[in-house]
Amino acid sequence: MTNPYRRRVLAGAAAATAGAALLPMSATVHAAANARFSIGKDDFLLDGKALQIRCGEMHFARVPREYWQHRLKAIKAMGLNTVCAYLFWNYHEWREGRYDWSGQRDAAEFCRLAQAEGLWVILRPGPYACAEWEMGGLPWWLLKKSSSDTFLRTRDEAFMKPARRWLAEVGRVLAAQQITRGGPILMVQVENEYGFFSDDLEYMRTMRQALLDAQFDVPLFQCNPTNAVPRTHIPELFSVANFGTDPDAGFKALQAVQQGPLMCGEYYSGWFDTWGNPHRRGAATKAVADIQQMLRMGGSFSLYMAHGGTTFGLWGGCDRPFRPDTSSYDYDAPIGEAGWVGEKFLAYRKGIEPFLRPGETLPPPPARQPVMAIPAFTLKESAAVFASLPQEAIRDVSPQPIEHYDISRGLVSYRVTLPAGPAGKLSAAKVRDLAWVHIDGRLVGTFDTRHRRFGIELPARDKPATLEILLYTIARVNFGPEVHDRKGLHGPVQFQPKGGNPLALENWEIRAIDFDADGVLPPLRWKQQRARGPAFWRGSFDARQPADTFLDMSAWGQGVVWINGRCLGRYWSIGPTQTMYLPGPWLKRGRNEVVVLDLTGPQRAELRGLETPILDRLQPERDLPRPPNKSKPKLAGVAPAHSGQFQPGSATQDVRFTAPVSGRQFCLESLDAFDGKQYAAVAEISLLDAKGQPINQSSWTIAYVSSEEGRREDGQALNAINGQASDFWHTALAGKAPAPAHPHRLVIDLEKTVEVAGIRYTPRQGDDKVTGRIRRFNAYVGAQLVDPGE
Ligand code: GLA
Repeated sequence: MTNPYRRRVLAGAAAATAGAALLPMSATVHAAANARFSIGKDDFLLDGKALQIRCGEMHFARVPREYWQHRLKAIKAMGLNTVCAYLFWNYHEWREGRYDWSGQRDAAEFCRLAQAEGLWVILRPGPYACAEWEMGGLPWWLLKKSSSDTFLRTRDEAFMKPARRWLAEVGRVLAAQQITRGGPILMVQVENEYGFFSDDLEYMRTMRQALLDAQFDVPLFQCNPTNAVPRTHIPELFSVANFGTDPDAGFKALQAVQQGPLMCGEYYSGWFDTWGNPHRRGAATKAVADIQQMLRMGGSFSLYMAHGGTTFGLWGGCDRPFRPDTSSYDYDAPIGEAGWVGEKFLAYRKGIEPFLRPGETLPPPPARQPVMAIPAFTLKESAAVFASLPQEAIRDVSPQPIEHYDISRGLVSYRVTLPAGPAGKLSAAKVRDLAWVHIDGRLVGTFDTRHRRFGIELPARDKPATLEILLYTIARVNFGPEVHDRKGLHGPVQFQPKGGNPLALENWEIRAIDFDADGVLPPLRWKQQRARGPAFWRGSFDARQPADTFLDMSAWGQGVVWINGRCLGRYWSIGPTQTMYLPGPWLKRGRNEVVVLDLTGPQRAELRGLETPILDRLQPERDLPRPPNKSKPKLAGVAPAHSGQFQPGSATQDVRFTAPVSGRQFCLESLDAFDGKQYAAVAEISLLDAKGQPINQSSWTIAYVSSEEGRREDGQALNAINGQASDFWHTALAGKAPAPAHPHRLVIDLEKTVEVAGIRYTPRQGDDKVTGRIRRFNAYVGAQLVDPGE
């Protein structure tokens, strides 16, 4: 394919690297790999002819197997020629050494179906995936292999050995699906966005070798966000860039490191939702324009997501530092959660159509699956969680993370005797994720990881009492350093009576309902009554003609739903998702049984099925009580560590202070914005040490923010320190009250005193019309820049 545009950009990129020799061509590494598909000098080559990969992501684990073919047809009809599939290691090996590729996990069958629909496959087997999936796809039992909090995704044998074994297993099952052996797999990805995590390039080489050893002989590649491409590229691996905006920048970054076709590995069609935060959307017009730009440049892309689907069961992940993802993975993708196609889909299809290969035509999209409503029905039976715990207890002096007891996830009760005495404060080293604290059966408070709330006040007792903590694990973090996410109550657990010395609470009884891989229910003794407190509920409905439906959970609290014994997923009425997608093929003609675990109790023990989903209704009033935040900034008399001006545009920029400053808190104060408007926004802020390296930010919290948008869009301050440049902190938009004006302040607590020598700032991404790009600013570092106001 002749592509004058590409050559022009390439020349620019080469000039930009000013004399730096281009690294050896990746193309030569792969060209010999196989005859049918290879990576050429300018293009992907299929049977020697240029191929533009128009790929869309769909995770087979997130789509009912009965509908795989339907969704693949929709992907094809959208104008795509390839489907990208992650494998989630933990989905196939939840218990060490026990692999499962059956039913919903049948990856080889997914490849065969894709091939039958005329689609190529790009395989992304990990070992780490990310993808808003429990622990990014890593199996929880890895956490038993080392007590270190930095061994996952490194060359440490505690990680490498099981990871190699996994990749060998993937080869055993899927090597036969490669194009070299007549299958649809064109390329295989090594790891996932490793540049977000570390710069150990030897690790990438080791993983690459593990895939070669696993009999993969198609081209291997790596993906990274645009800004990490320069420092992650190695000549042995073809690089692609991930971005949701600015294809030019992404492709230039690729051209600076390798010669070969240009490809976006993940172009974001929308974004994922987290519980308690506004529903995210992605505009089709902009996405289609970017895709067309990439295609015009002769480039290739993979749309993340073409079809997001649903994170069924207990497989949902959690954004860092702790923001669990919703079960709906609709993603605002062109093919909706239930496989529906509409205007958005048509906009993509129309945008892609002019770029089809000669002779290629698009089939019509498949018809929508039928939907049904289910009239309201009451769940009349219940079984209290406390009465459903196993008799047998694990005994330990002080509670350790649950992985230590071989508990994978679920509900865990911790019981200990609390001596008689005055009121005081109960605290644990850490609590993951949510826990309800009871004294002699009475609820006295909650622990909540979201707010690092690991302490509560306990009342006075005139005799020894039983302290029982019921803990619920939601999801292991899937992104960033917190991926070492050990669950449970972490000891020591202490009680400090008012005016007295802290007392370590010891000799615990621990009982767990381990939900295991697929949400196994414990034996339950049902009673015909309305339970109080945490309980399982049971009811049923009749389906004359089973069809898709959306269970309305808005009157329930928080927990898990099972349909005919199959775990459907988690719900949480704080939203934004209020419905659970229930696929018709999982229902029976006639009576269907529903079990709901509700940890906080429903408003009405009633369910119904809707014909349309509710994805964007927040109900913050349904949340657990949150401690009031009375903090105020305390900057009077503190000299800024630096006062200056950022560069315009969206590029990440480093600012070095004249001298390093030590402190436990950092404050960024915006004085104005480039567009002259009243808003401030920050995509990412990191702090630099004296060597100019980013300081570990895994334990940072937001100590104070003067204003943040949380109603119309997700502009929370946490977005500025979550490692994702695609989301951002944004000050409040105008509502009933006018939007607050500069100065805006964001104060970060660094957990310990550190020496700060500068900052790395990533402005809000997008074109120059986006609001909030800060111009003049002050940076402060100090021991305490916030008055907690307690
Ligand atoms: C990254 C990861 C994906 C996914 C997206 C966000 O790009 O590679 O797995 O987590 O972010 O949806």
